[in-house]
Amino acid sequence: MDFTLKTGDLAKLKTPCLVLGVFEKHKLSPPAEQIDKASGGRLSALLKKGDLNGEAGRTLLLYELPGVNAERVLLVGCGKKKDYNRSAYRKALAAAISLVNQLGAGEALCALAEPLPARLDRYHALRDAALTAADRVYRYDLTKDDKQAPKHPLKRLALWVERKGEVELGERAIAHAQAMAAGTDLAKTLANLPGNICTPNYLAEQALELGQRYKTLEVDILDEARMSELGMGALLSVARGSRQPPRLIVMHYRGGKADDKPLVLVGKGLTFDAGGISLKPAAEMDEMKYDMCGGASVFGAMRALCELGLKLNVIGVVPASENLPDGAANKPGDIVTSLSGQTIEILNTDAEGRLILCDALTYCERFEPESVIDLATLTGACVVALGKHPAGLFTQDEALAHEILAAGETSGDRAWRMPLWDDYQNQLDSNFADMANIGGRDGGAITAACFLARFTKHYRWAHLDIAGIAWNSGKEKGATGRPVILLTQLILERAGALKNV
Ligand code: BES
Ligand code: MN
Ligand code: ZN
Repeated sequence: MDFTLKTGDLAKLKTPCLVLGVFEKHKLSPPAEQIDKASGGRLSALLKKGDLNGEAGRTLLLYELPGVNAERVLLVGCGKKKDYNRSAYRKALAAAISLVNQLGAGEALCALAEPLPARLDRYHALRDAALTAADRVYRYDLTKDDKQAPKHPLKRLALWVERKGEVELGERAIAHAQAMAAGTDLAKTLANLPGNICTPNYLAEQALELGQRYKTLEVDILDEARMSELGMGALLSVARGSRQPPRLIVMHYRGGKADDKPLVLVGKGLTFDAGGISLKPAAEMDEMKYDMCGGASVFGAMRALCELGLKLNVIGVVPASENLPDGAANKPGDIVTSLSGQTIEILNTDAEGRLILCDALTYCERFEPESVIDLATLTGACVVALGKHPAGLFTQDEALAHEILAAGETSGDRAWRMPLWDDYQNQLDSNFADMANIGGRDGGAITAACFLARFTKHYRWAHLDIAGIAWNSGKEKGATGRPVILLTQLILERAGALKNV
């Protein structure tokens, strides 16, 4: 989708569809007031009749308003004026975009960022509009004939700003949104693909393709033989239960100086998690194709970064494997030796994410990272603890914690901090190995993070458990592309691209 910026007299601007906000009790937003005046009070007359009262998410479509150049005017309810915050703004945007997308107008002009929602600046309000639009318009159609797809989907969205002085800021918001949306789309599509197509090797090929497309990206794929030479006994043990060979995907983005220490993003790329010998129950097992969403987010963030061409060094690392119950699969009680040399007793083969991640995390030491952030659909326990709104953040590094939480708040792709105290470490004690791969029922998301902490002693590190946020279940089943936006926000900030916004 394309985004542009428009300024000037709203009534004079030509567009197939102009989107305006209305608050409860028939209060018009300032842009709606402009149109009301230009049309000789048509909007206020209509609202008086009671056709739309401003309730959040309700819409009313009008044609051929006198004195207005737009072919259609779409009024969107924004709720109570005093409660107009980011979440109400996004709800109104989503309702409007979904309708315009079905309409067949192809193009629209959106004036919902005036007035600004509470505590939101102009830059983020405009960027949110573009991102919400891209999110609503996204469709997965790689493996089906998408009959319900709109014939003329929304292809171009213009965002209206009142003052010429805001155009430069708006252009920046649009450029950043475009990159974030491209990254999010990629993450969604990789994640939505089924496990029989999106295999570890498929992911590796996608990485190579990204490397072809962006000259700034250098891709290195480690195969089974190389991993075995290195001694990645934990990662390889998971892959042994499957006929698909594992891959360790490494993507280097070198935008900074040669000696700038890199930020390293590590994403769990478990392309299907049946649980292994500790087999999962059948219900909703299909959703375990999403167990590679951490990896998909790394792909997405790398793509956004390449689009933006920022001046810093970032490395994306994706350990990719399946977890299936084969004759050669891990068995409960098996002991493997990780790349770090530490031995692990596998008490539950379904706690496989930490096994592939621990070797990838040890591998990262060679990059002498500035910091490492890993992303993983790691535990059901995290979903129990936090639900489906924030990612779970685990780190002992205060500065990194605040940086990630702040990037989450400002981008609206939020994380919430959980404890990562050593008090929990003894839950991982094993009589037969340096550690067990599970820590019992209590604090399951925390003991999983504690396990990873044992492999990240040599650099600053944070872990995001994204099991609750990476996809939606039920009728709207599909990947969300989160937290590509959080990661891109953090990268934009590190690159100094958000000064004076
Ligand atoms: N991929 C799952 C975690 C998961 C479960 C994500 C449900 C989203 C929804 C992970 O590999 C797993 O199976 N974890 C186990 C760990 C347990 C065996 C200690 C879990 O959460 O049940
Ligand atoms: Mn599992
Ligand atoms: Zn898993």
